[in-house]
Amino acid sequence: MAPTLDARQDIMVVEVPKLAKEAALKAINEWGQPKSEITHIVFTTISGVDAPGADFQLIKLLGLSPTVKRVMMYHLGCYGGGSVLRVAKDLAENNKGARVLVVCSELNSVSGFKGPTETDFHTLLGQAIFADGAAALIVGADPDTSVERPLFQLVSAGTRILPDSDDMVEGHLRQTGLSISLSKDVAKTISGNIGKCLEEAFNKIGISDWNSIFWVSHPGGPAILDLIEGTLSLKEEKLKASRKVLSEYGNMSSPTVMFILDEMRNKSIKEGKATTGEGFDWGVLLGFGPGLTVETIVLRSISTI
Ligand SMILES: CC(C)(COP(=O)(O)OP(=O)(O)OC[C@H]1O[C@@H](n2cnc3c(N)ncnc32)[C@H](O)[C@@H]1OP(=O)(O)O)[C@@H](O)C(=O)NCCC(=O)NCCS
Repeated sequence: MAPTLDARQDIMVVEVPKLAKEAALKAINEWGQPKSEITHIVFTTISGVDAPGADFQLIKLLGLSPTVKRVMMYHLGCYGGGSVLRVAKDLAENNKGARVLVVCSELNSVSGFKGPTETDFHTLLGQAIFADGAAALIVGADPDTSVERPLFQLVSAGTRILPDSDDMVEGHLRQTGLSISLSKDVAKTISGNIGKCLEEAFNKIGISDWNSIFWVSHPGGPAILDLIEGTLSLKEEKLKASRKVLSEYGNMSSPTVMFILDEMRNKSIKEGKATTGEGFDWGVLLGFGPGLTVETIVLRSISTI
């Protein structure tokens, strides 16, 4: 519990953009277009704050144009993977020809690195479930299908603050580093409100059978997945990709949902499913985090695999 914020910041300010670069290079490589085609960056991290920010450093590391338009979203936390997609969708649809590099990069180990103690339950809990990771993807409207191969359409993006949940997930920047606290009621509150979020998102499309869509749910912790599954009577396979990523990588905060998307499309291809969404056309991507905030993205698998 020593005042170590300076030391933590010095690590994160350098390493978060470097980790982001590795993810961005993979995304750009798979996209297959010259990096000069990137017009915007949307970047999120809860690991450190600085100016000029992690987005600026990433532009330098990748050698992107100084005219790339930047949106840096610091300190969102676990719902950030949904938020960056929501913002990227707006940018892509409102700027003709835009190609938005979306990046999530987190070093939760640096924030949570503290000596073991049996009296600080929140630190123990954080150390048990949180992990490091980075993910990136490219978002655009009007794809040029002669050279681009879109995988998922972002059909709609909604966000909601859940009632009576202001203090359920908190992240306070202190001299000791980032102090995260999780209430034991997080899973119950999310599962109790998730039906409403889904109804809002899918009403217009006419979908109300949650087993007829594919699921990319931020795992948070196993209790969250268990309660969502039980409350909505989901079949066991619906949250399989989320559980796999949680068990193999941990809760990486913002990039976790993109790892799940990746797991899902790769497995779908491997198993010869008709779509990248486990054979289903429509799907949902859910981000949960401080607020409690829920980001609900309606997805459509549009890949012809
Ligand atoms: C933390 C977690 C992984 C532990 O799972 P587990 O080992 O199966 O244990 P349980 O969920 O049964 O919890 C064990 C005990 O710890 C308590 N507990 C769990 N989370 C707690 C919390 N955040 N604060 C205080 N107590 C908590 C439970 O109430 C239970 O107490 P009891 O034995 O008196 O009934 C699981 O509870 C979880 O996934 N929680 C959600 C984590 C979360 O909020 N993530 C959000 C990040 S976006």
